Amino acid sequence: MNIRGIIFDLDGVICSTDEYHYLAWKQMADEEGIDFDRKVNERLRGVSRAESLEIILERARREYTDEEKDSMMERKNSCYREFLSGMNPDDVSREVRETLEELRRKGYRLAIGSSSRNTVYILERIGLSDFFDDVSDGTIIARSKPDPEVFIKAAGMLHLRNEDCLVIEDAPAGIDAANAGGFVSVGIGSAASCDRASYRVEHFADILNIAENCADAGTKSAETLSALL
Ligand code: BG6
Ligand code: MG
Repeated sequence: MNIRGIIFDLDGVICSTDEYHYLAWKQMADEEGIDFDRKVNERLRGVSRAESLEIILERARREYTDEEKDSMMERKNSCYREFLSGMNPDDVSREVRETLEELRRKGYRLAIGSSSRNTVYILERIGLSDFFDDVSDGTIIARSKPDPEVFIKAAGMLHLRNEDCLVIEDAPAGIDAANAGGFVSVGIGSAASCDRASYRVEHFADILNIAENCADAGTKSAETLSALL
């Protein structure tokens, strides 16, 4: 194994837009009188807008037509984009920014792998539009996480083999997607305790260690490598 590329989820990894997803869904659910809380919200991480709505509707007291579902998704998305419009480069922490720059200096190829159809807009707001080598997002995939499609497309864009890429994820569904695609999965934030992740980190800067140690892994046993981390 020789790590040459790193694929980052966006919401909840590069910036805290996961909180805005929660607040926007919460507003829509409250208006409809549907119970929705942070525990249910955990299941929405990494999955598409339409699948998120279906999870929320498990607690609805009536059936909704397709037209009603479309309008609920639209309402949620316009509320979400209101939050996004207030974002700026300060919404990327210094640790994230410095780690990304250090990874770039070390020569890793860097991509985004996100289910979101708002990816390009968010990258614009936070001033990272031109930073990543490639962006694979919700606008080019047919199946969202836990399907590995978004990461497979990212690795293809980077011209790297899946096994030569780390995938950084805050969603258990994203960890499953990375594992299904043969990537090295790294859980952070909400996935920092996901035991299906190949590595779990508390701090974004720890990604540097993992990338470097994986790069040496060809000459080290799995046991030695996990002792190092
Ligand atoms: C993922 C989020 O990044 O994007 C999910 O973790 C969200 O919660 C999905 O549903 C789709 O986002 P969007 O911006 O296309 O509604
Ligand atoms: Mg995420």
